[in-house]
Amino acid sequence: MNRNTIKTLQHKKETQHPIVVLTCYDASFAWLAEQAGVDVLLVGDSLGMVVQGHETTVPVTLDDMVYHTVNVVRKSRQALVIADMPFMSYATPEQAVRHAARLMQAGGAQMVKLEGGAVLVPTVQHLTGRGIPVCAHLGLLPQSIHQLGGYQVQARAAAAAEQLLHEAQQLQAAGAQLLVLECVPQALAAQVSCTLDIPVIGIGAGPDTDGQVLVLYDVIGISVNTIPRFAHNFLVETDSVAEAIAAYASAVRERRFPTAQHAF
Ligand code: KIV
Repeated sequence: MNRNTIKTLQHKKETQHPIVVLTCYDASFAWLAEQAGVDVLLVGDSLGMVVQGHETTVPVTLDDMVYHTVNVVRKSRQALVIADMPFMSYATPEQAVRHAARLMQAGGAQMVKLEGGAVLVPTVQHLTGRGIPVCAHLGLLPQSIHQLGGYQVQARAAAAAEQLLHEAQQLQAAGAQLLVLECVPQALAAQVSCTLDIPVIGIGAGPDTDGQVLVLYDVIGISVNTIPRFAHNFLVETDSVAEAIAAYASAVRERRFPTAQHAF
């Protein structure tokens, strides 16, 4: 079976079919997500928190990301696999190319994700100019948590919202082909999604984005910390982990998740 590509996702945006994204860190869950028809598996550096037990994503290394990406790719067939570039692995454009190439060659990822706005424009240009597909990430940036001082909703004020929209446009112009928007007001996420040509995937960004992503461990209710308000434990209404993942996928596809109660 052929894997989804960026064209598959672009077509879903254009035809208004919500894109289902789920984080994934190993082969068995990749297999279950495949059965549920998840469109994109994100090997998120959230693995530093949910798998490794760290307080933040900052300690995650490139070797960790390669290891988990290989395992996810091995048991997935159709989903596009995106690997997060860990903290400080893309501090310069040259470093970013070297490390993204490793995630693609040794890890088997089809796209890499980077957290940040205008400051990353030259890096995104450097990557995409060399054939490396990029997913940008704006809003709450977990790798900057020590600078932010906490996990809070971002860009609530009008000036910050305007800046975020501008940065999203700059990243798209630099060649980014996908954007993750984390923890921003619903109205802003809706505006970014209809302004950009590329698909926008929300987490804590309300129902009006082109797709949704959740952390797998929240979907099956085994996160160490309390489940964030924008997430949902789908295992509560189902009888197995496989059914919970399938319930998440169909809830996103049928626009039953997220609802107003998950939005800001
Ligand atoms: O690392 C991760 O899981 C992520 C998602 C929260 C989008 O970046």
